[in-house]
Amino acid sequence: MAQKIIAGNWKMNKSLSEADALVSDLLSEMDNVPEGVQLIICPPALFVQSTVSQCTGTALHVGAQNCATADSGAFTGEISASMLSSVNAQYCIVGHSERRTIYHESDIDIKQKVNQLLAAGIKPIFCCGESLIQREGGSHFDVVSRQIEEALFHLSAEQMGSVVVAYEPVWAIGTGVTASPEQAQEMHAHIRSLLRDRFGESTASQTSILYGGSCKPSNAVELFSQQDIDGGLIGGAALNADDFLAIAQS
Ligand code: PGA
Repeated sequence: MAQKIIAGNWKMNKSLSEADALVSDLLSEMDNVPEGVQLIICPPALFVQSTVSQCTGTALHVGAQNCATADSGAFTGEISASMLSSVNAQYCIVGHSERRTIYHESDIDIKQKVNQLLAAGIKPIFCCGESLIQREGGSHFDVVSRQIEEALFHLSAEQMGSVVVAYEPVWAIGTGVTASPEQAQEMHAHIRSLLRDRFGESTASQTSILYGGSCKPSNAVELFSQQDIDGGLIGGAALNADDFLAIAQS
């Protein structure tokens, strides 16, 4: 069975004091998180170190939202996976659609980032998902297959065991439009079968496949009750402790 995970992607939101306050609110409610559900928050890179300090010794895990394709050197403005590891980040989102579209990240860039993260001992939260045009054109399964093959299929089964996959249809991110539970389940089953063909049954069944895209307390129960949905990657609703915890309780 795959680990149930609820991960919060804060994107470019919160000041240091606001981040501190949100983490404090979450920590005060950790007793209400169901057993077996792992909670991860991914604040902006600048706050990862202080958030890790706040969360040390608790069940709240901390990740970053992005890393560089290289390990060190002349890359002004970049932060490497090994730097994230040096402040004890445990996870890092990679391949988010906002990085793919706004910053033109290619599948090759994302593959390099996955490699950097695994080498640094950080678990990648690998995002994939199709645009509205791709879905309407009927190529959504092909698009997601290609994203996964290009960025993950070079890994060993053991390395794949450290990767979390998040299916985030681009048309559902931040739009208020969620994939229906059937649409999400159908794609999650497709992803799991890709992983099964490449890495074998045990890796496929143990990989957490999260749904992301306008997931909120009001739709989380239905989505998470689907067989191949092992939790969520939450954007907007992760900025509010009550909403994030309500989703974790779904
Ligand atoms: P959303 O974002 O929940 O605000 O749609 C999800 C994400 O981008 O990870």
